Amino acid sequence: MGGRLFDIAPGSRLTGTLRVPGDKSISHRAVMFASIASGTSRISGFLESADCLATLSAFEAMGVTHSLDGETRVINGRGRDGLKAPASALDLGNSGTSMRLLSGLMVGQAFDSTLTGDAGLSRRPMKRVIDPLTQMGAAIEGSEGGRAPLHIRGGQALSAIEYTPPVASAQIKSCVLLAGLYANGQTRVNEPGISRDHTERMLSAFGIDVERGNRHVAIAGGQRLEAANVAVPSDLSSAAFFMVGAAIAPGSELRLREVGINPTRRGVIDVLLRMGADIELDNEREQAGEPVADIIVRGSALHGVEIDAHDVELAIDECPALFVAAACADGTTRLTGGGELRVKESDRIAVMAQGLTTLGVALEETEDGIIITGNPHAQAFGGGHIASHEDHRIAMSFAMAGLRASQPIVIDDCDYVDTSFPGFVDLAARAGLGIRSRSVS
Ligand code: S3P
Repeated sequence: MGGRLFDIAPGSRLTGTLRVPGDKSISHRAVMFASIASGTSRISGFLESADCLATLSAFEAMGVTHSLDGETRVINGRGRDGLKAPASALDLGNSGTSMRLLSGLMVGQAFDSTLTGDAGLSRRPMKRVIDPLTQMGAAIEGSEGGRAPLHIRGGQALSAIEYTPPVASAQIKSCVLLAGLYANGQTRVNEPGISRDHTERMLSAFGIDVERGNRHVAIAGGQRLEAANVAVPSDLSSAAFFMVGAAIAPGSELRLREVGINPTRRGVIDVLLRMGADIELDNEREQAGEPVADIIVRGSALHGVEIDAHDVELAIDECPALFVAAACADGTTRLTGGGELRVKESDRIAVMAQGLTTLGVALEETEDGIIITGNPHAQAFGGGHIASHEDHRIAMSFAMAGLRASQPIVIDDCDYVDTSFPGFVDLAARAGLGIRSRSVS
């Protein structure tokens, strides 16, 4: 990838009614669980993004057939033990979720497999899944420093473990639980903090008995998944860019339709509310085991807040967008306990600090966070060239900064936006952002 820039014209507002694409985390899980279930599952609202399509291709390479019925993905499950050995390495592109969750599934198979990814994914830490899987008896090896590619030798007898991950992470939790489906005994994950619970919810929908306590999840090995239909809500992590955009741009009024507001994910809503954002949830309801609502956001004056480790857990992917809001707020915003932000698609503390500094924002980077001195004036940002470091969420966060900028902003490496949010440019332009995508050779 590489080669597409965003040109953002300064100063505008966001209005109208939008439906952002389907939830990335839920789409990944829907494909995985449908593939190892018995019977045919239908997934509506599936996110047709590069990351989720990488997951789909991986299962296709293991013999799973699927089709499109209108906009519904129809997956013909092969049953718990029905996957076939892939002819070559499974290439998971840029997707950490695909690699970490799949590693848990692959160690339970009778055949060998290799999981690879692009340069960005190959820099991300995989020891966090290699360690618990090895404890379960899996034969899994990473390369230097516990990175991808991951080589997995199948056909190992797995034993259940009780595991407390070193950090709160839905990817680690899900990986261990999926391996637990193939293990002898009951596998239990104790959570050191809150992480998204889509795996637990969706495994139940696919007929798995999941024990859930205050801070633990457990499943017994040997259970079989039955096909289910999944209605994927709009992704709160994608909606977050528009929420921040509407919140910081005076005169904005945006309705974001049918967005997932799972309590383990809703930190961005609560932090923005604490900052004084004008946000309303309308038409709250449950859709296929996940809470959804329309989110209405109007422009308003924001003020700085403290964002602690608990907030970070609940808004792990939304922090870059929140930094843009903080830069427009009156007063200081201090984020602490955000060490995990440094091992996402990029080091999101360093990369945001670099870009915000380019735009003239006063800030101080700390080891596990950032202190941002907001500028509540109409033009909170200058302009300039932003390096997105091949991180989709960095690119989209800085696109929204244009709403309060005095000069044009150019953002590089925007192809990566397609990993989570195909159609972002058109949707943002429709809402009123002055955004153009430009190819450079
Ligand atoms: C995800 C979990 C989070 C999140 C990622 C998607 C998931 O990662 O950052 O974008 O789908 O399980 P961690 O669980 O590693 O924090």
